[in-house]
Amino acid sequence: MMFENEDNFITSAASDGGFLSSASLGDRLVTSGREEDDEEIENTLRPKTMAEYVGQEKVKANLSVFIHSAKKRGEALDHVLLYGPPGLGKTTLAHIIANEMNSQIKVTSGPAIEKAADLAAMLTNLYEGDVLFIDEIHRLSHAVEEILYPAMEDYMLDFVVGKGPSAKSIRIPLKRFTLIGATTRAGMLTAPLRDRFGVMCRLELYKPEDLAKIVTRSARLLEIGIEKEAAIEIASRSRGTPRIANRLLKRVRDFSEYANEKVITRETAKKSLDLLEIDALGLDSIDREILTTIIKKHGGGPVGLETLSATIGEDPSTIEDVYEPYLIQLGFIARTPRGRVCLSSAYKHLGFRVPPSKEQFLESLDPASQNKDEDL
Ligand SMILES: Nc1ncnc2c1ncn2[C@@H]1O[C@H](COP(=O)(O)OP(=O)(O)OP(=O)(O)O)[C@@H](O)[C@H]1O
Ligand SMILES: [Mg+2]
Repeated sequence: MMFENEDNFITSAASDGGFLSSASLGDRLVTSGREEDDEEIENTLRPKTMAEYVGQEKVKANLSVFIHSAKKRGEALDHVLLYGPPGLGKTTLAHIIANEMNSQIKVTSGPAIEKAADLAAMLTNLYEGDVLFIDEIHRLSHAVEEILYPAMEDYMLDFVVGKGPSAKSIRIPLKRFTLIGATTRAGMLTAPLRDRFGVMCRLELYKPEDLAKIVTRSARLLEIGIEKEAAIEIASRSRGTPRIANRLLKRVRDFSEYANEKVITRETAKKSLDLLEIDALGLDSIDREILTTIIKKHGGGPVGLETLSATIGEDPSTIEDVYEPYLIQLGFIARTPRGRVCLSSAYKHLGFRVPPSKEQFLESLDPASQNKDEDL
């Protein structure tokens, strides 16, 4: 079953029942959101200590200082907000923080806490120094959030018993705990909640070198042999996201095993990813559709998010949270007050020519020609 040449590779793989099923069924391999399949592998691969956590140097350096001083003072760590696109390691980092603080971690999520009483019960069950991790914290209901304010600020639980004139307000002291909130949408957090976090950490998309380290580490843990060049190939197509890198590694391993290789070679990595229609920059058909739609149907933009979402048939928040961050990082899309604009590198990547009338306008928006430190 060795693949002898490119054609053979494609035909023999494609004719194997189910081998390519997920790609041909249109599942999105490069989605940064968590898929059911990811669960088992994520638990095996999740780094447990700050030293094992690759990249995000600024965040790690800051957190290490805060953790060190909190431990030295024998106090609970300040409340921490972790934000950034899906799959970058927010949940992982929350567990690492608890681990480094030698604390217990209790895990819940915004949509899971239905009533204020549910959160009150969780808070009263916390011990000194415990970490309460609330994932998707932007999805807390208003009533639940109100309980959180005094709990975070004064370590007090305030609630009202009874109704009408006989209603009494009661305060119960809580143990000093650390709240870690995670969100992909920091902008949706209310100001009072945001203000109560002492530490805010924004996770960035990873550089290909860091992703290559992650791929190599994951391969070692999964006992997969991989050439350095192959790890780089996978890393460069993973859209800056560890979750995608690990998923692509798993797929490439399937191809490599099928080809009876002992070690994943660059050639196999490249061929399998091409076959899965993930291009050299990690773009898949949906990304290309977004870019082509902006260029062909909206004259290259500016086009509003709502209009774009209606043309593509994809939820606006999905476009904003899942697709756009990487396209913006690549310098393919710019956000302007009037909407999204495709930049010249996107035209080039897709093989289109920039209309001469647009050249100057696009040049003025290109991040490459602007201050590199600017916050995109
Ligand atoms: N810095 C890192 N070093 C090594 N592996 C990492 C790192 N960050 C993330 N990973 C890997 O990526 C996987 C996904 O990370 P994680 O679940 O923490 O992302 P997330 O930001 O919580 O995503 P979501 O927004 O979907 O909840 C983890 O299981 C882990 O294996
Ligand atoms: Mg998470």
